Amino acid sequence: MPDALQLLKSRRSVKPIELVAPGPDKNELDTLLTVASRVPDHGKLTPWRFIVFEGDARRKAGEAIAAAFKQNYPDATADQVGFERERLARAPLVIAVVSRAAPHVKIPEWEQVLSSGAAAMNLVTAAHALGFAANWITEWYAYDRRVLDGLGLAANEKIAGFVHIGRPAKPPEDRPRPPLADIVTRFGNQD
Ligand SMILES: Cc1cc2nc3c(=O)[nH]c(=O)nc-3n(C[C@H](O)[C@H](O)[C@H](O)COP(=O)(O)O)c2cc1C
Repeated sequence: MPDALQLLKSRRSVKPIELVAPGPDKNELDTLLTVASRVPDHGKLTPWRFIVFEGDARRKAGEAIAAAFKQNYPDATADQVGFERERLARAPLVIAVVSRAAPHVKIPEWEQVLSSGAAAMNLVTAAHALGFAANWITEWYAYDRRVLDGLGLAANEKIAGFVHIGRPAKPPEDRPRPPLADIVTRFGNQD
């Protein structure tokens, strides 16, 4: 197993189209979901859940995306609609992280939302640890009520992300990261 810090320092996203088979097997998928659900969670509310899209189910889910797209753009070409149908079929595995954050007597909703972000990030990191690459994306259909209905989300649920997972087709190039000097201050310093 790679050194944990080296792993965290080397992670980077890979475009869905560059995530190729084979995807995780059943044991690896269990590991991914187990790690994703091991996150800080104020009040132990479990304010998130996961939907797994694999195999043909990815295109079945894509029907809901394509139908909403067709309603939005009645003049869209067959190619354009086909592209939308394939949205969740680009990578071998997609896991939707669904936020179930809701008003609570003690726990701020914001903190529940943050917990779902932690779940998504753990998923991405666990994928990297298993030798896969991942991409946490939302795209337009994460915010489309018709698509959310088609995927089985309740009215109070939101998509925190569709985490795409597969083998990287090629080693990813890194992107510049924010210099610490730009994002870190020391409290009490004048400048
Ligand atoms: C909540 C959330 C939603 C995102 N949605 C998209 C998206 O729809 N499309 C996209 O290109 N990147 C999206 N990203 C950004 C990618 O996950 C990723 O951060 C970006 O490609 C940079 O790669 P890096 O992880 O190597 O920094 C999203 C990130 C977050 C946290």
